[in-house]
Amino acid sequence: MAKKKSSKVTARSGRFASGPAAEANAFTNSVKFDTRLAHHDIAGSIAHARMLHHVGLLKEKEMSAIVHGLEAIGAEIAEGRFEWRTELEDVHMNIEATLTARVPAGAKLHTGRSRNDQVALDSRMWLREEICDLANEIHDLQLALIELGENNLKVLIPGYTHLQRAQPVYLAHHLLAYVEMLERDYERLLDCLVRVNVCPLGSGALAGTTLPLDREFVARELGFVDAHDTPMITHNSMDAVSDRDYVVEFCSVAALLAVHQSRLCEDLVLWSSVEFGFIEIGDAYTTGSSLMPQKKNPDICELTRGKTGRVVGNLVSLLVTLKGLPLTYNSDLQEDKERLFDTTDTVRSTVRILAAMLRDTAVNAKTCAAAVDDPNLLATDLVDWLVLNGTPFRKAHHVVGKLVAVAEAKGKRLDKLTPTELKQADKKLTKDAMKVFDLKAAMARRTVPGSPGIVELKSRLAYWHKFLRH
Ligand code: ARG
Repeated sequence: MAKKKSSKVTARSGRFASGPAAEANAFTNSVKFDTRLAHHDIAGSIAHARMLHHVGLLKEKEMSAIVHGLEAIGAEIAEGRFEWRTELEDVHMNIEATLTARVPAGAKLHTGRSRNDQVALDSRMWLREEICDLANEIHDLQLALIELGENNLKVLIPGYTHLQRAQPVYLAHHLLAYVEMLERDYERLLDCLVRVNVCPLGSGALAGTTLPLDREFVARELGFVDAHDTPMITHNSMDAVSDRDYVVEFCSVAALLAVHQSRLCEDLVLWSSVEFGFIEIGDAYTTGSSLMPQKKNPDICELTRGKTGRVVGNLVSLLVTLKGLPLTYNSDLQEDKERLFDTTDTVRSTVRILAAMLRDTAVNAKTCAAAVDDPNLLATDLVDWLVLNGTPFRKAHHVVGKLVAVAEAKGKRLDKLTPTELKQADKKLTKDAMKVFDLKAAMARRTVPGSPGIVELKSRLAYWHKFLRH
């Protein structure tokens, strides 16, 4: 009896003489991870049932019995009362089988549908929501960076190339570099959403259906519409069930986001070291050492940097999974979900924790001031002074290079060379030239768009403030 009942609701019904071997089922079932799609699976099934009624394939009563049955299952899942059975292979069969056991009309739910278009639908719906949440969290991380910059508006630090001191920048300018990167990540994410938000349901196993389905009806029910409220549906049944490019695209955007965060973290690790001493991350967001009592480690930064490896790995893993697959659906595609879930969970957690950590990070203005009190950082300004006084750039570069060497040889600061020493390097170099070493004035001179001058910085901060807080 039990066998007869289960033969109605499994994918093996009719065709198979026996059930799967226990180890085969343990190996193939995806219940261990795809139950995360349950609520989207139910929403998709409800829309499918409404459409079947709309086109006359389900009676009103059947449709409403299915809808209520699915809603009850949804509530049980939400409350943790639903019993998942691995022998039913995946989230889709579990829900359909339970529904059918309770509601006779449930046997009609899968009309014109395959798990192949169903799973593509579920993962698109799931990802759509995650993208919107992640996008909001990216904006919050940007805000946290801006707040740290605004609260330390006057702090200057050396900017580095090759990790060697290069030219002075406002700390806020350095932080805003990441705000710009994150904004492009945000834009890429929303752009990717346009291609995720397309409804594949109605593609069947691979070749559509002979039944009179209304695909646009389902698309509308599930919010697969563009900005003009036009329903968005896939246009090739084989493509719809076999490509996972929307997953790859998201994971690639996420990988770049992770790389940007990783670089930020590397800066923060350096800045929080005694050698730099520019910042102090709050106790609540650092860890100690089991042995060395003095330690305060920037663990969150290190882990964010480290987790970038798995996010990049997930992208590579997906690409390799797809690489040799013949059209259309192959079970290899079931491997997409853990990669997708892991990437999403990882980047969402790092974006959130970094925002919180930055809000508990203090800037050590004194150490920054000491670090930036280095006239060599303004050697290029002296070159510019010579250029403005008619010296060709290449010559000016050479002259100042020599001056730096002289200062170094004499153990002097570049801004403390005597008028005679300056004259010896180039007769144009008067005492007046030494004014370039006034740091505040130097920062006021940086007025070209995108440069780290104070006017530019303030206007960019104001822009972001308005943009992100409106
Ligand atoms: N669990 C499957 C997956 O995640 C659902 C689709 C199964 N389709 C099939 N023909 N076996 O891809």
